[in-house]
Order: sequence, then structure tokens, then C-alpha cells
Amino acid sequence: MTIGRARARANIALAKYWGKSDLALNLPAVPSVSVTLEPMITETRVTLVSHAERDVLVLGGSEANEGESKRAARVLERIRIEAGAKDKARVESVNHFPTASGLASSASGFAALVAAARRAYGLPRDPKRESALARWCSASAARSIYGGFVELAAGVPGDDDLAATQLHPSSHWDLRLTVAVITEGRKDVGSTDGMGLSKETSPYYRAWVEAAPAMARAIREAIASRDLGKLGPLAEHSFASMHALALSTSPPTLYFQPGSLAALATVRKLRADGVPVFATMDAGPHVKAISSADDAPRVKKALEETQGVLRVLEARPGPDVEVE
Ligand code: DP6
Repeated sequence: MTIGRARARANIALAKYWGKSDLALNLPAVPSVSVTLEPMITETRVTLVSHAERDVLVLGGSEANEGESKRAARVLERIRIEAGAKDKARVESVNHFPTASGLASSASGFAALVAAARRAYGLPRDPKRESALARWCSASAARSIYGGFVELAAGVPGDDDLAATQLHPSSHWDLRLTVAVITEGRKDVGSTDGMGLSKETSPYYRAWVEAAPAMARAIREAIASRDLGKLGPLAEHSFASMHALALSTSPPTLYFQPGSLAALATVRKLRADGVPVFATMDAGPHVKAISSADDAPRVKKALEETQGVLRVLEARPGPDVEVE
């Protein structure tokens, strides 16, 4: 029996990816910049099973639904071809944070799956290849192969080798991400569907694709100089532009809940009181506050006291995917 194990972390985009330049290869239409989060970990074990008829995906103890299983089986098939192997796989994956609610569990999930499966099938470690395969499953997953601060460039249609690159390791900047969890359930509109709708129906899609590279560049520079006063407003502009785009689809894609607005108001109030803290949101209702390590306890307390916030998670820049 051949086994591969991997631990990958979720990531939060400071410059958002939203929209695809090549649907079949899952290439992003815009560059994105993220931070990999400790301790938002997915642990995955891949076991090769001789004579099995199909791959089996078990998430948190229960067999995954058809859509999730299909995505996993597709990438496992590619890895088998690369390895010249035939055996199907049993994949067991556990998330240490809420699944499918905008906390980017698909990112850590696919990153861990690809890394663990390549190990199980006897392929050597190759972060660039792992990142490209993870990107093909879910573009944000390409970034979770690397720790610290990570960029995924926009994809030129046809370029199936597109992989993320690490900008800085986690030691570069002790930023804190305080996550206000607003719901425990699954989100209504997944990011793949949401961005498809944006491309098809929003009058603002082209403007977003044109504006995003300059936003990502400025965010990269603010990270390089560890300048929270610069990074914060840029990250807010990126997330708000993405949500404006989502809102301008037909029908509108609305990820905000009352608790999200309350948490955003808390972040603004803290800022008015002199705390440099900034917000970002993904394709779900949670609000992620970006601050220094020194200010994180105050941010956490204020978010915990906010109506509509169920609980608060704390995260910091984390390491590369770990494979054994
Ligand atoms: C809002 O990577 O989940 O979190 O490539 O279709 O699987 P697919 O989309 P996914 O989208 C993430 C969107 C986002 C922004 C980001 O993480 O950059």
C-alpha cells in the first residue's frame, strides 16, 4: 500500500482573483496576491488501492458529493498519467476550519490533495508542478502550495503550466488576519459560478480586468515595504471592487450578511479610534481584518463583541505545504 500525506494552509487574497481567461484550463483573468494562513490547515492522506474501480474522496469523515469527487478524480487521473500508474486512490481529508463558506477551504484542500497524491504515486516534490495542478482544480489553490506572501499571475489562454510564485516567506512580515465567522453553513453561490456570472452579465467586468493588474502591483509593493498604511486601503479597494462586480451581475450575487456589515463597521470604528486595521472579504459572508500583531488582540475583542459574529479565528502567515 502506498500512502502520501500533506498539510496545506488556506490563503486569503489581498489582491483578489475573480474571473477566468481560459475556462477549460482554469486560468485567472487577473493577477492575485495572497497570504498563506497558519493555522487554517487541511490535512490529506492519499492511499493507493489496487483493483478499486474508482477514486473515493472522504471529507471530514463523510464521502464527498459528486461535484467535489469529480474535481478530485480529474486531477488524480492527471497525476496517474504523469506517474504511469493505474491504481485508484482513497483520499481522506480533514479541514480544521469551516468548509465551503468563503474561507477558501478548496484552496488548502486541492493543494493538500495534489501534494499528497503526487507523493503516493511516487512522483518527486516539485512545487511549481504542484501549484500548476492545484491551479487547474481551483486557481486560489495554486497559491496554497507556498507559504508566506504569494502571487498568481493572470493566465495567458492555453498556458497550462501557470503556477503561483512565492514573493516573500512568512518571516517577512508578522501580519495578523482576524477572521470574523458570520455563518457556519455553505455559501449560496460558489466562486466558480459567481465569477462566471460576472463575466457573462456584468457591465463592469471589462473594467475590473483592466484595473486589477495595477491594484495587484501596488499591493505587491506595499507588502515588499511592509507598509500596512498603504496595503490596507489597497486591499479594501480590491475586495470592494470584486464585490461591486459581483453585485452588478444579473441576478445580483450578494455575499454580505447583516453580520458582515456589522463587522465591517467595527473595523471602520477601530480605525476611527486610531487602530490601523483594514478589512477584506471573499465569496462568502466572513470578514477578515488585517492588522499588526500588536493590535490583533484589540481587533479580536471588538469583533467578538460585534452582533452577528459567531466566533473569531486568528491567523498569521504560514509555511509551504508539508508533504510526507
Ligand atoms: C474570492 O479559487 O475558489 O476567494 O478557480 O473557480 O475554483 P476557482 O475559484 P476559487 O476563487 C477564489 C475567489 C476569491 C478571491 C481569491 O482567493 O483570490
